[in-house]
Amino acid sequence: MNVLKVLLVQLLRLLVWLWCRKRTKQQSGTMNLISVAHDAFNSRDYGLATELYKKCVSELDGVADAAATRLDLQFGYADSMANSGRLRDAVAVYARIYKRGCVPDRLRHLATALIGALHADGPPPAPFDPLACVACGSVPRQPVSWNCGHCVCLKCDQKHSRDAHCPRCGKSKGRSRREVNVLINTLVQKFWPKHLEAAALRDEGNSLFKGGCLKEALEKYNASDKLVKDYPLTLANRSHVLLSLNRAQVALADAETVIKIWPHWPK
Ligand SMILES: *[C@@H]1O[C@H](CO)[C@@H](O)[C@H](O)[C@H]1NC(C)=O
Ligand SMILES: *[C@@H]1O[C@H](CO)[C@@H](O)[C@H](O)[C@H]1NC(C)=O
Repeated sequence: MNVLKVLLVQLLRLLVWLWCRKRTKQQSGTMNLISVAHDAFNSRDYGLATELYKKCVSELDGVADAAATRLDLQFGYADSMANSGRLRDAVAVYARIYKRGCVPDRLRHLATALIGALHADGPPPAPFDPLACVACGSVPRQPVSWNCGHCVCLKCDQKHSRDAHCPRCGKSKGRSRREVNVLINTLVQKFWPKHLEAAALRDEGNSLFKGGCLKEALEKYNASDKLVKDYPLTLANRSHVLLSLNRAQVALADAETVIKIWPHWPK
């Protein structure tokens, strides 16, 4: 009887050992795969990286103590897809990560806006969108984020430096150092490059207008409108300059388009 017991225990130990060995082998296999995926990403082979990350994610799915690695892999998977032009798929994965609450608080507005905009294939941020600069309503240029979480263009921040509260939510802006938020800046450049360019042309137009060069200003607004068609901020400016050029009929057409697109815009 005793012999049987000892044998049984030995057999059990053998089984446990075999099972552990298989598991570590599988895990170290996954670890290798992860490092290959990272390598593929770093050497910009995003198509391959996407496939590898996908495999890693599915292999680690059942492993309970791998939550941090899994999150890292999900990001890798999404980033690879984003880089290989599969934005929609990437956003779906980002959205899953986001739903689990793995997004820093300060980026919550941005994440919501980006996911919303891309999911809906929607228009660029309107002045009342969480992502837009809360001062000028444009895509934020050299964005600075306030303590309340909203962001503004660096220039707008300087212009409104005396106000203590955010015009959107009324909360305190805080007194943190005003530095360009590199992450938001990168994302804006990545997702709205044309809008940034259009905004720069609009700025040039505004300066020309101030200097009295109406025709030249009009050309800038037209160039801006060519890049991003019917963007209300541009049309509002163009309407103004057209009116100053005594072209009321065309000015009215622009103004009406603005009202149609952004009916709630106070301007
Ligand atoms: C600019 O656009 C306005 C409105 O569409 C048009 O009437 C005007 O001729 C354009 N001007 C130039 C210089 O392209
Ligand atoms: C253009 O629009 C901006 C922002 O809405 C405004 O501050 C600026 O005065 C406008 N310029 C002209 C010429 O309408």
